[in-house]
Amino acid sequence: MKTTFIRTAALAAVLAVTLGSGAAQASSAPKPPMQDWTFKQSGLRIAGLNIMTGIDIFVHFDKAQLKRGFQVFKEVCNSCHSLDLIAYRNLSALGYTEDEIKEIAAEYEVLAGPDDEGEVLDEDGEFLVRPALPADRFNAPFPNPQAAMASNAGALPPDLSLITKARFNGPDYLYALLTGYEEETPEGYEAIPEDKSWNHWFPGHAISMAPPLYDEAVEYEDGTPATLDQHARDVTAFLSWAAEPELEERASLGLKVVGFLIIFSVLLFALKKQIWRDLH
Ligand code: HEC
Repeated sequence: MKTTFIRTAALAAVLAVTLGSGAAQASSAPKPPMQDWTFKQSGLRIAGLNIMTGIDIFVHFDKAQLKRGFQVFKEVCNSCHSLDLIAYRNLSALGYTEDEIKEIAAEYEVLAGPDDEGEVLDEDGEFLVRPALPADRFNAPFPNPQAAMASNAGALPPDLSLITKARFNGPDYLYALLTGYEEETPEGYEAIPEDKSWNHWFPGHAISMAPPLYDEAVEYEDGTPATLDQHARDVTAFLSWAAEPELEERASLGLKVVGFLIIFSVLLFALKKQIWRDLH
């Protein structure tokens, strides 16, 4: 009895601390407004873990939106950010054919060295490169982090593979960040250094990423209006898929499990009736 009490108290204390730290993290920056996403999970979060609930069986990615988001990533974000956990061949999930993926990969170059003699540079002193293959990852646009920082006023553009998971309310934050720039520091806020931009949602407001998106930053192949808002939504959807490509499989597995449990319960109930029939 006593040990149960102590255990319950300890568990409550741990929960209070984890939930409390989540709240503290959230309050240090303004909370981004909630958006409607087709892939939005019902948000039952316990100690940082996303617990899928019955409602989540309807979550899905809109493939057309993912393709548009990929276009934005490829044409805009990928000139500074890598996507280390996604290989070109993973794009088959978006509906690209094998040939299309080969073509996309071939637009990129990856380091080819060292060669058979152990050389990493060619005769002109340039790095040995080859066209990328479907199995290669969306590589960093810079040869190393120092080069990335040198071209970005000392700030490192982070890898975006898990960005929607690495930030509190990831997709809402990302959308807010991409649409939350102001040309001038608004009244009532401290001035920021010249080489930074003012963003409403970035902690501290001074961000080293100049506004990457604007109306018509990318021309969509499917004719969707190319507004800043649309670009931000689409690239957020794409990066949410990149962070959790197995989301839909998990949701449909959930549906099968729930279906199985219902049928199994009916069978068990019928069996129980059968066994107890004579005794009632
Ligand atoms: C010209 C280079 C450049 C481009 C293009 C660019 N970024 Fe960035 N990005 C940066 C840099 C530099 C940082 C680091 C900012 C800092 O720490 O102040 C950054 C940071 C970020 C962050 C992290 C913010 C945080 O909370 O720490 C996200 C998310 C992000 N970028 C998304 C994007 C997306 C999405 C695109 C494409 C639409 C994009 N970026 C295009 C340079 C770029």
